Amino acid sequence: MWSAPTVAPELAIAKKRVESLRQDIAYHDRLYYQKDAPELSDADYDALIHELRWLEEQHPTLVTLDSPTQRVGGQPIAGFKPVQHKLPMLSLNNLFSPEDLIQFDRRVREGLAVDEVEYAVEPKFDGLAISLVYEQGVFVQAATRGDGATGENITHNIKTVRDIPLRVAATEADGSESSIPDYFEVRGELLMYRQDFLKLNEQQAERGEKVFANPRNAAAGSVRQLDPMIAARRPLRFFAYALGACDWSDYSGKPPATHSALLNQLKRWGFPVSDLRDTVKGAEGLTAFYERVYRQRSQLPFDIDGVVYKVNRFDEQQRLGFVSRAPRFAIAHKYPPEEAITEVLNIEVQVGRTGAITPVARLAPVNVGGVVVTNATLHNEDEVLRKDVRARDMVVVRRAGDVIPEVARVLPESLLRPDRSAPFQLVKECPACGSPVVRLEGEAIARCTGGVICPAQRKQALSHFASRRAMNIDGLGEKIIDQLLEADMIHTAADIYTLKHKRDQLLHLERMAEKSVDNLLTAIEESRHRSLGRFIFALGIRHVGEATAKQLAHSFGTLESLQNEGSVEVLQRVSDVGPVMAQALVDFFQRSENQKLLKELTAHLCLEESAAKVPALEIDANEAASAHLPFYGWTFVLTGSLSQLTRDEAKALIEHAGGKVAGSVSKKTRVVVAGDEAGSKLDKAQSLGVEVWDETQFLEKIKAIDNNQ
Ligand code: IVH
Repeated sequence: MWSAPTVAPELAIAKKRVESLRQDIAYHDRLYYQKDAPELSDADYDALIHELRWLEEQHPTLVTLDSPTQRVGGQPIAGFKPVQHKLPMLSLNNLFSPEDLIQFDRRVREGLAVDEVEYAVEPKFDGLAISLVYEQGVFVQAATRGDGATGENITHNIKTVRDIPLRVAATEADGSESSIPDYFEVRGELLMYRQDFLKLNEQQAERGEKVFANPRNAAAGSVRQLDPMIAARRPLRFFAYALGACDWSDYSGKPPATHSALLNQLKRWGFPVSDLRDTVKGAEGLTAFYERVYRQRSQLPFDIDGVVYKVNRFDEQQRLGFVSRAPRFAIAHKYPPEEAITEVLNIEVQVGRTGAITPVARLAPVNVGGVVVTNATLHNEDEVLRKDVRARDMVVVRRAGDVIPEVARVLPESLLRPDRSAPFQLVKECPACGSPVVRLEGEAIARCTGGVICPAQRKQALSHFASRRAMNIDGLGEKIIDQLLEADMIHTAADIYTLKHKRDQLLHLERMAEKSVDNLLTAIEESRHRSLGRFIFALGIRHVGEATAKQLAHSFGTLESLQNEGSVEVLQRVSDVGPVMAQALVDFFQRSENQKLLKELTAHLCLEESAAKVPALEIDANEAASAHLPFYGWTFVLTGSLSQLTRDEAKALIEHAGGKVAGSVSKKTRVVVAGDEAGSKLDKAQSLGVEVWDETQFLEKIKAIDNNQ
């Protein structure tokens, strides 16, 4: 961790350091995002940012628009402003068959009156098109495509996307410095990597927030946020694929003459471009590329829905021109959707780690986009009933961005069958332990109430405990856990650490020879030294994800401190911990069976604990003194214009009464004070169900406090 020195350097020295830090940060951003080869740990990278932010705070004149500190921390915007595109953002026509492809190439050759054409070829990214404007090399505006003529200004969110350069570095193909067009617009696709998307969805689910259907929706939802702090937490990526408006007039280098040269230039300027790009000749070259990328499709880290062919030479592109809203010189060749038809053999319900009941369709094996699928999720009971899926139905199975496959719909023929099997029955008892299944009001998910007595929950809890991102016990997968439970060799996570005394019994398990037993016992032994953060995550406490577990470890330092000092009130001081999660933590630590488990576990473990707890958790003298005040622990947000007092006066009154004032509305906001013409903050407060006071109500409350004191 970087810690600020006591004395700030003088301006000239600070300026030099700021510049060098910015260069270093840009370099490490590129290594991380574009080369996938980071040299720094997250902590070392954060230290660079912290130092830069501190220097900028000491010398505010050094803050620039393109400083990496400006990526996050912007204020939420009131609404999206329209942006007129200087050149329309067009769409591509599609082709689906080999005949279409031959015809496209023929039309292009005839249009240009040549025998053979060179094409630049690239993936068709399945995200959303955006435009990025740079003036004098500095990123100034981002916009969505909208209707092609007018999009929406999303600069505040796009600034947070770390693989988009805030300033471009001017280099030519030969490495020489050159100028940069005074004004240029880069167009490309904003998307989310599949892995990042899955992780985001997990976090969203843990926080009880919206889960996205696929990476494209997640990316689109992220840019539609008014608050850039939310976008900053979304793992967005960008690929450049075209230039929009560009002023080459004062450019000292040679403007690129082909699309492939342009992409190379954009890469040198610091924009991510796909390594799958290539140049090919004629219809044969196009077909070979289409097939090559198709074979790689399921291995790519992001979703594509086809490939794009573009006539490589710009002069030839110009000669071909446009038909209505699409260019004649480019076309998208779409891949068939990753869907397949198969039969439902049965509908079963699975019981998750926290008791969640998920209906799953067992399917006749079917190939969906290169992967054999035998199970598909039906999400929840309402979904099964809505889609009316039944055993023996023929259904369409879909893989949406490599998430668990799902049953998209029942084929109409199945729905018409007179001898259709019975509709899905709501589950009343847990299939694993027989405990009642309940569904709380307003929740889509039904849960088994068996807790630790439910073998299904126990099994899931143990697999979670041993999983890679938790205690990372290599070799302790579901199959072994099943056998261990069956043989009564383990019941709780603590029993995992007694397995070393049961070597002989382990050797009797299926597929466990000397070597695999040794490996497993070594992996268990090694896991004794994991970090406190991993351990907290491994406990599988409801709503507590990986990132929050890390935060908790960092904030409390030791398990005892978390157990003993983690009241609902104190827990909420940890970033990302809201009232629901805080309550779940308190409940977890209060249950006697968990206390027993923790006692047993800690006897075996030798956790790496954080050195010190962060000061944020310690109630300082001032705070202790304010604990009795009426607004103690309340966060207020002020919005709109107040007529009887200034914002600063209102803030002072709130603070005087023990409250805090924040800039944006979140679930943690207790009250929004809305003056005239309050905008998006008021909307957000209403959508989150946060209490809203108008100015008069606010003043009345303050007056009441004064009278009581
Ligand atoms: S070029 C003149 N290249 O496809 C057309 N578009 O229907 C400029 N897309 O909305 C677009 N990958 O979001 C181009 N490599 C690629 C692309 C691509 C995805 C999307 C783009 C656009 C749509 C066109």
